[in-house]
Amino acid sequence: MNHIPVLVAEVIDLLNLRKGGIYVDCTLGAGGHTFAILNACERCFVIGLDVDPDALILAKERLSVYERSGKVKILRRSYTQLSSTLKETGIEEVDGIIADLGISSMNVDTSLRGFSFTKEGPLDMRMDPSSEKTAWEVVNKYPEEKLERVIKEYGEERFARRIAREIVKSRPINTTLELVDVISKAIPFSKRRKRKRHFATKTFQAIRIEVNSELENLKKLLIQAENSLKTGGRLAIISFHSLEDRIVKNHFRSSEKLRVITKKPVVPTEEERKMNPRSRSAKLRVAERI
Ligand SMILES: C[S@@+](CC[C@H](N)C(=O)[O-])C[C@H]1O[C@@H](n2cnc3c(N)ncnc32)[C@H](O)[C@@H]1O
Repeated sequence: MNHIPVLVAEVIDLLNLRKGGIYVDCTLGAGGHTFAILNACERCFVIGLDVDPDALILAKERLSVYERSGKVKILRRSYTQLSSTLKETGIEEVDGIIADLGISSMNVDTSLRGFSFTKEGPLDMRMDPSSEKTAWEVVNKYPEEKLERVIKEYGEERFARRIAREIVKSRPINTTLELVDVISKAIPFSKRRKRKRHFATKTFQAIRIEVNSELENLKKLLIQAENSLKTGGRLAIISFHSLEDRIVKNHFRSSEKLRVITKKPVVPTEEERKMNPRSRSAKLRVAERI
């Protein structure tokens, strides 16, 4: 399934688009937010970054008209290189920055990338397929205590110790469904049944965060983003779990360079939640450079 962008109208509204402005979409994905910015903004220019070559193919298709007319520059680059990318492009400061964190629907749906706990696939989970660490390495090589810490901290999983122990006992584990089977042995049946979401959700999330250094990358992005904005420029971050949201909230509150625009996070309307269930956990926070 193609990725449906979340909170688009809210992002467009809160970015306060300026005629002729320069924007960065740090997580271009299939180009949904960039497309909306270019549609809504007269003479605007967007730099779109993503580490996933599959996403970039879709973005290039969707944005081909804008790319041909020079209104968007698409780069295979991590948002942790935001400052150096702007420097290299000859841009000193920008009018707005958006990052839509998390995983794209294309990645979840492609079993070969190993993100899905409902489809058989290799233990991969890399957003950037050229990076070194895979889920296989985390699952099969991490010492038990380190694995437990990852599952507990990044997955907020109360059975982290039992899951880590079961994983170590069952090594080697080579596929996503083998891992699901191991997790199912570690969580008591009665507890598994009571969960609203699939019992492997938290462990998969934790491993994905570890593989992609998602929280460290987010911290790097926040610092570079606030330093790349013009006065009055806005930074919009959409997060999908509490750990990310906490990092964004705390950074916005403690930064001397930012003024918080959204006192509370903006969440999808009931209508959007129904239309796009993936949007359910999305939280948008926006701050302005002072
Ligand atoms: C939720 S999707 C973005 C969807 C996009 N807003 C759209 O409307 O199609 C998140 C994207 O962030 C990308 N991503 C993850 N880590 C990244 C990083 N460090 N630098 C750049 N992109 C990254 C993923 O590859 C994925 O395509």
